Amino acid sequence: MFITFEGVEGAGKTTQIRLLADRLRAGGHDVVVTREPGDGPLGPELRRLVLNPPGDAAIDDRTELLIMLADRSQHVTQIIAPALARGAVVICDRYADSSVAYQGYGRGLAIPTIESLNAFATQGLMPARTILLDLDVVAGLARQADRNRMEREATDFHQRIRNGFLTMARQDPERFVVIDASGTPNEVHARIWREIGTLDTP
Ligand code: TYD
Repeated sequence: MFITFEGVEGAGKTTQIRLLADRLRAGGHDVVVTREPGDGPLGPELRRLVLNPPGDAAIDDRTELLIMLADRSQHVTQIIAPALARGAVVICDRYADSSVAYQGYGRGLAIPTIESLNAFATQGLMPARTILLDLDVVAGLARQADRNRMEREATDFHQRIRNGFLTMARQDPERFVVIDASGTPNEVHARIWREIGTLDTP
């Protein structure tokens, strides 16, 4: 079973992924936790390049998208697909939807183009469920201390991303589960578990 987590900056994905993974493992599942950009074979370098570029080099929007896709393509073939093939539950911190939200709704690149490039990079592999942690963008950004290139963008950029994610969730209600990310980590985890704990995970 392939599960992704999405959301604005500071929505608490990392904490929630850890809580979900721990609980699934306690139930005897083989769980692989991974993230984008960063956990593919070239991931650490691509992540640094796109989020903290040397000398704060200007990265144009298309280049930003293509670096995310290069990371995704390697990540799918070398990490995600093999783990799914052996029957693991794969939980990925951001995936194809982040490119639509950030480079599409955020930067303004054409969404159909991003969708077709995503299909190319992932070879059509999409998650069974996507947990969208929804949170007010100002509250989310306030949780971030050390800000990277994206986190330094203006509030309205992040607002477009939040609205973009919510639009995508409305368009694909079978896959997306929208979770209110306000409250304590345990409260948010309980909301997620109500949706995921009942799934028939392999
Ligand atoms: P994330 O790992 O959530 O950041 P952090 O660990 O600092 O909380 O995400 C990395 C950043 O990359 C985030 O700002 C979103 C951005 N991103 C895109 O713009 N497009 C993409 O396709 C992906 C996967 C991430």
